[in-house]
Amino acid sequence: MKPTVLVTGATDGLGKALAAELAGMGARVLLHGRDQERGEQTLAELRAQTGSETLGWYRADLSSLAEVHGLAGQVAAEHERLDVLVNNAGIGTTLPGDGRRMESADGHELRFAVNYLAPFLLTRLLMPLLVGSAPARVVNVSSAGQAPIDFDDVMLERRYSGVQAYCQSKLALVMLTFDLAEELGENGVTANCLHPGTYMPTKMVFAAGVTPHDSLETGVRATARLVAAPELAEVSGRYFDRLAEARAHPQAYDLEARRRLRELSERLTGVAAPLSTRLPVEGNGGWGAASRASSPRGARWARLVARVVAGMCRAGAADLSVRLSEHERIVRPGSLRQRRGHASRGGRRRGSSSATGRGGSGTRTSVRRALLLCAGTPRAAAASV
Ligand SMILES: NC(=O)c1ccc[n+]([C@@H]2O[C@H](COP(=O)([O-])OP(=O)(O)OC[C@H]3O[C@@H](n4cnc5c(N)ncnc54)[C@H](OP(=O)(O)O)[C@@H]3O)[C@@H](O)[C@H]2O)c1
Repeated sequence: MKPTVLVTGATDGLGKALAAELAGMGARVLLHGRDQERGEQTLAELRAQTGSETLGWYRADLSSLAEVHGLAGQVAAEHERLDVLVNNAGIGTTLPGDGRRMESADGHELRFAVNYLAPFLLTRLLMPLLVGSAPARVVNVSSAGQAPIDFDDVMLERRYSGVQAYCQSKLALVMLTFDLAEELGENGVTANCLHPGTYMPTKMVFAAGVTPHDSLETGVRATARLVAAPELAEVSGRYFDRLAEARAHPQAYDLEARRRLRELSERLTGVAAPLSTRLPVEGNGGWGAASRASSPRGARWARLVARVVAGMCRAGAADLSVRLSEHERIVRPGSLRQRRGHASRGGRRRGSSSATGRGGSGTRTSVRRALLLCAGTPRAAAASV
């Protein structure tokens, strides 16, 4: 079966060239862009260039969180699987705004919104589909241009520069990648990020008045490798500078900074991490640790349930983010009960049986909740626990 790959920002530059490369390799490529006309034009061009008949097109302006929701919902509704999500779309240091601070439709600093918050939300919303398609990959196109986030002025209201805005957004994307790798651990989804090339000849580089250095082919090769290379199938949580593994900015390895960014992002998008590493789970250091510690049977069960949730997403019955938080509870069985103090006597928690692959009452309850949500009855689902 052809792998399905969603490439954001595929109407120009690296994204367009990457989409052509992947389609040529036989993938079903879902092109994303913000402009309908450019999208249709790109679709026609790539069809002629690659002979692919399985290209798809999706329009969404990533400077609007509502449009990110729409994009995720449409992809989940139309595809049974998503093997790779490439978060490539981005805006550079000068275009748009020419050095002037701008805001997104939701009132967030524009580069932070498009380059970071949109991929944060899109990835979270598509996670059930990715987990249900495992083994799957998330590839985040970051940059070597990274600057630490000042948590007292994330939106750069006090002192703005396009370079700072771009570089902090790209470091935030690296931090997201490292979190995703931990969270998705045993669920069969890897997350890696890269600096695709230095000053490749694209719109954002020309707009900044910089003389190109690397070829577009350099970026395509490095990104396509993270998408498809068999030797990277189990590699996760890494940052690459083109083809070589590299160290990101030190803040990316600062767990406290990552926690602050994650919490801020959840607040700004209204979507909680479905596989959060924050909440403790029976016998483990945290949700991420629970994932790593669960048995292969448990992981297989979690994937099965995730497929159910992905199917629900496609059914389009209830709000995707609500269902995503259901997914959180399902793939971390027992968590809901634990948070409500339902631990059974003798130290075992009733909802935890599926973590060992037995799919007991806690899991059945979760699935029931999921199915009720599928039917669009979140209240009844909540009451069922
Ligand atoms: N070029 C480099 O040397 C370089 C170096 C390091 C990292 N990168 C990263 O590589 C990625 C691709 O950049 P590129 O150089 O190929 O730039 P590009 O040619 O300007 O392409 C950027 C893509 O993102 C899309 N996009 C921008 N804003 C959007 C929005 N609000 N909603 C939806 N889509 C939007 C653009 O759509 P339109 O076609 O409508 O404009 C375009 O398809 C970026 O993440 C960039 O930061 C590039």
